[in-house]
Formats: sequence, structure tokens, C-alpha cells
Amino acid sequence: MPSVLTQLHDAVNHDPVSLTGRRLDWANEPDPYKHYGPRVDRTSLPVDVQATGGLHAPGLARLLRGALGPTAVLRRPGGQLHLRAWASAGALYPFEAYVAASGVEGVPNGLHHYSPLENELRLLRPGKDSHGDAASLRLILATRIFRSSWKYGPRAFRYCLLDPGHALENLVLLARALGFSPRVSLSLDDAAWCRQLCLNQELERPVAAVDLGGAFSTNTLGDPAEPCLDRDGVVSPAEKPEPKIVHAFQVTAGAERESTPDTPPESVPWGDPESLMGSRRSRRNFLPDATLGQAAHEAITGCLRPWRDTPRVSLLCQGVEGMQDGRHALDVSTGPLVKGELHLPMTGVCLGQEWLANAPLHVLFTANLAELESRSGPSGYRGALLRAGRLGQRVYLAAEALGMGACGVGAFFDKQASDLLALEEHERLLYLVAVGPVRKR
Ligand SMILES: Cc1cc2nc3c(=O)[nH]c(=O)nc-3n(C[C@H](O)[C@H](O)[C@H](O)COP(=O)(O)O)c2cc1C
Repeated sequence: MPSVLTQLHDAVNHDPVSLTGRRLDWANEPDPYKHYGPRVDRTSLPVDVQATGGLHAPGLARLLRGALGPTAVLRRPGGQLHLRAWASAGALYPFEAYVAASGVEGVPNGLHHYSPLENELRLLRPGKDSHGDAASLRLILATRIFRSSWKYGPRAFRYCLLDPGHALENLVLLARALGFSPRVSLSLDDAAWCRQLCLNQELERPVAAVDLGGAFSTNTLGDPAEPCLDRDGVVSPAEKPEPKIVHAFQVTAGAERESTPDTPPESVPWGDPESLMGSRRSRRNFLPDATLGQAAHEAITGCLRPWRDTPRVSLLCQGVEGMQDGRHALDVSTGPLVKGELHLPMTGVCLGQEWLANAPLHVLFTANLAELESRSGPSGYRGALLRAGRLGQRVYLAAEALGMGACGVGAFFDKQASDLLALEEHERLLYLVAVGPVRKR
């Protein structure tokens, strides 16, 4: 009997027979940035590269800009695209950040939208946290579904969680480096936050929050009965809900859970996370026949253990020093789970992305969905994908620190992946990130 989550996940599987290229509706291409009208008050954030973490505008500004901001410009026909500090499927950036601030120096009290392009806050709902006089600061991450579903259709459900997971990891790592003590929640009351932020739940869903001081809840700030100062900014002329994704978000909705301190990784191979976030890119030019040395392998795997088993992490090795070719559990004491040279067949599984064959290490994120559901209920699914994205971003940053390259892969034939990797009955591949030495950076 398939579990609810297995069915939900398999409903957006790719398979070689049914996969056909989607025709993109260019006239309806989503804007990667959200715009609000002139009635919204704006606060320009200071650029201070020396600012440290604290409940003040310069600390907040440095965090938001470093973790989420544009880091490169890609020229393309008809305009340009800003690439960001976090990886995103198809560079579509289906994610928005909001700031709930009360008593934060230099920031008006209330709920704001953060614009990474203008580096400004837009005040959507003024109001003070009613918990008392202590200052409080919360970041809310919401996924703007159509940006990704425009290109990927229902499969975008996974990217709408993996992508914000990448951004969330940047926020947590940089917050810690700046001296904040971030607390994370991966389970929010969607409906309550949508009311507060004036979001249409079918188009944009809050998926995670980071508390940087104090504790906000949906009922402490402003009166949701009062209208916002402006309605939700539209992102394309004919933005429309994707029914399968609306359903999937409904099924996986959970109760608001308190944020908890985030477990630091066991080992952090990078020095300055801010500069690594600034220079990180997806690199696919892996050197043919290159190997991955033991020190690099240990540095990468050392930063992948913060959560016990959600998602599960395994390693597909071909040319990793000291490791037999094949798929290994992260704790290698038991020997390979599957032996052999699997990289070439893996490129076929990943829709013929041939460059994957040259990356000696593929870090695989999987979850046994029936097990996850019986332990955490359907809402556990969101956490599994968000955390797979978080760990994926760590792999990118670790590769950058080691002078190597990394690239995430969300496009694969799901059933073929399960067969090749010999996954358990309800275990599914969620995401993978390929790592190795690259030709030129
Ligand atoms: C969830 C996810 C899935 C991705 N899937 C693929 C993929 O299948 N193939 C690929 O070449 N790149 C993939 N990427 C990499 C993106 O294309 C890349 O992040 C985006 O173009 C932005 O470029 P940048 O990472 O260099 O900033 C994926 C990234 C993410 C986060």
C-alpha cells in the first residue's frame, strides 16, 4: 500500500516515455523580482561590510545581502539575469524573503518584504510585536510557485522546497558567522502567515522561518483583519496556480512549530562563508579522469551530518581515493551498498547530462517516504526537501572552499534512479549534487 507521501512524490516523477519538453510561454515569463506600488514605505538598507550581527539595520543588511543577494549578471537576449548567492533550478529563484521586526534599530516596526535587487525593505504591515519590550527579528521565507512551475510544471513542487533550502542554509551559516544565534522553523502555519503577509496561498507559500532574536508568532504583530498597505506584487501577466502543487502544499501543511537552535555541522571546511557565497557558481566542466583526494572527500562528507537521518545521505563514488567504486552510506564502515561503475548509467538516469560522468563524487539525498510519514506525518516531506537543499548548498560552499566545482541535479528519471541505486521500497532520490575538480573556475 503506497503511503500518501510516496504517491505525492511519484505524482511528479519524470519517466522516459512521458517526458516531453514543455513549450515555454515567453509572453508570461515570471519576473524574478517582486514589485510593490508607491504606497509602500521603503527603508534603504545600509551597506556596511564591517557590520556584525545584532538587532540593528547594518547587521540585518549584511546578512540579507550576503546570503541572498545578486552575485553575478548573465547577459541574455532581451536583457540580463542576476545570478544569486544560492543555487536555484533553472535560475528561476522561486523564493521571497520577508522580515518581521520589532524594536530593531534603524528598521521600522512591522512586516516587510526584502528586495535583494534594491537592497531595501518594503513595509507591508506596520505593527509592534506584542510580546513585550524586547526587540525581535524573524525572517520568513516563502516560495513563489509560478516562477518555477512556469518552466517545470508540477515537478516544480520539489524545486519550490529545494531552492529555498539552499537560500536558508546561506542565511543560517552567515548569521552564525556574523554572531547571531539563528533558530530555524521548517513548519509554519501557512494560512496565518499568508494572511499577515497578504499572500494568496495558491501562489505563494511560507516554508521556513529564521529567528535572529526574540520570537515572533503570527498573532503578535498587527491585526490581520486590517488590510496590508499594498496587495501582493504580481510576478507575471497571467500567473496561475498549478493544481498538483496547490494540492501537494495542502497535504503537507503542518502546525506552527517553535524555532529551534540549529546544530552546527561537525566540520566546516570553509573559511569566510560570505566570500564563498559571493563566488559560488554551478560548475559542470569537471576534469575527465580526475580523482577526489581523501582530504577533500572527508572535508565534504564532514559537513553533511547535522541531522540524523532526514534526508539520508549516500555517496556515489567513481575515482574517490580510498573508496571502492559504487554507492556508499555516509558512514562507510559497512562497505558499498552497491558496487561498480555507476556514473555512466547515472548520466542516462539524469536525462543524458553527460558532464556528470566526470564528477568523481555524486552526493545523493534520499528519503524513505513511508518511514518519514509514519514518524512525522505528511508535513515531514517539506522538511526533508528543505534540508536536502540546505545540505546541497553546503556541498557547493565546501567545493568552492576546496577550489573545486559542484552542480545540483533535480532532473532525473525517478524509477530508473531507484533501480540503479538499489533504493529501498519507499526510498526515493530527492536531489543530488555532483562534486569534483573542474577545468577552469
Ligand atoms: C534544485 C536544483 C536543481 C538543479 N538541477 C539542475 C540540473 O538538473 N542540471 C543542471 O545542469 N543544473 C541544475 N541546477 C543548477 C542550476 O541550473 C543553477 O543553480 C542555476 O542556473 C543558477 O546558476 P548558479 O548556481 O551558477 O548561480 C539545479 C539547481 C538546483 C538548486
